[in-house]
Amino acid sequence: MKSTAKAPTNIALIKYWGKRDEELMLPANSSLSVTLDRFFTVTTVEFLEDATKDVFYFNGERASETETKKVSRFLDIVRSLAGSSLYATVHSQNHVPTAAGFASSASGYAALAAASAKAIGLPLEGSFLSRLARRGSGSACRSIYGGFVEWKKGELNNGSDSFAVQILDEKGWDFTILSVVLENKRKKVLSREGMQRTVETSPFFQGWLNTVNTDLQLAKEAIRERDFEKLGTVAEKNALKMHATTLGADPPFLYWQPGTLEVMERVQELRLSGIPAFFTIDAGPNVKVLCLNEDEEAVVKELSALSSVKEIFSCHPGPGVTFLD
Ligand code: PMV
Repeated sequence: MKSTAKAPTNIALIKYWGKRDEELMLPANSSLSVTLDRFFTVTTVEFLEDATKDVFYFNGERASETETKKVSRFLDIVRSLAGSSLYATVHSQNHVPTAAGFASSASGYAALAAASAKAIGLPLEGSFLSRLARRGSGSACRSIYGGFVEWKKGELNNGSDSFAVQILDEKGWDFTILSVVLENKRKKVLSREGMQRTVETSPFFQGWLNTVNTDLQLAKEAIRERDFEKLGTVAEKNALKMHATTLGADPPFLYWQPGTLEVMERVQELRLSGIPAFFTIDAGPNVKVLCLNEDEEAVVKELSALSSVKEIFSCHPGPGVTFLD
């Protein structure tokens, strides 16, 4: 009743922004991401006959009550699916630099879903694991697969048709995704809270919903055609639209900081100088920059020269969940 799984992070090129069901983590729109080769979480789950509660270790140390509760709530879903009442010990090692601005929730819940499902004897096919990971954190459902992944929002109220599918594996197309980490970060509005406020109060949310599917179709077309400029262009536009919805929320909020804008402007200048580079931004100030492998050096050099840039990590499309035992 023990298993270890390794799961990667992913970055959305067409964002998931807004839920239609908070409890089941059902999204208002379909989204598309690329799974990254560099940052991941390794999680071991062991269900024990004589345990009286769930115990959670994070990066080698006993986790806080709050973090343990989150893991326990997720394991409750696993237990109810398996018809079991056994508690578990969970060890999770995060290989995601906290500064890198990746929510560790995607790799974290994908690894937890896979390891707990295997340990307790649940099905292990991708669509099942993706639906399960979704219950922990929406974006985690995409981390089950490698390469380019679409999370189909689904139509049903019970969520059985809301899961991710792979559209192209990690060997199908390679380019560089730079994770640009900024200095001086403020505490952010968590994605869950930010989405909810946007859905409930932003008049721009309907505008988001009206166009996100067209963006998604364009992105899928670009991936089929391996058209980097087409993909970068639609990813950048889509990210800007997502962030625009937060300005219309009540109270309004904005994830950007001065450094975010500095990077965005430099990326646009790079394009004017003939280097195809594009940005995308999640629920935080850091920026991810897409460029061709042959331009990586030049782009890193330009971005490193900005005063607000602290660190740059270079990533590529990578594989999905794997079982280590
Ligand atoms: O699943 P969460 O709660 O980590 O939300 C992810 C939200 C964004 O990162 C902003 C977009 C996305 O699709 O990953």
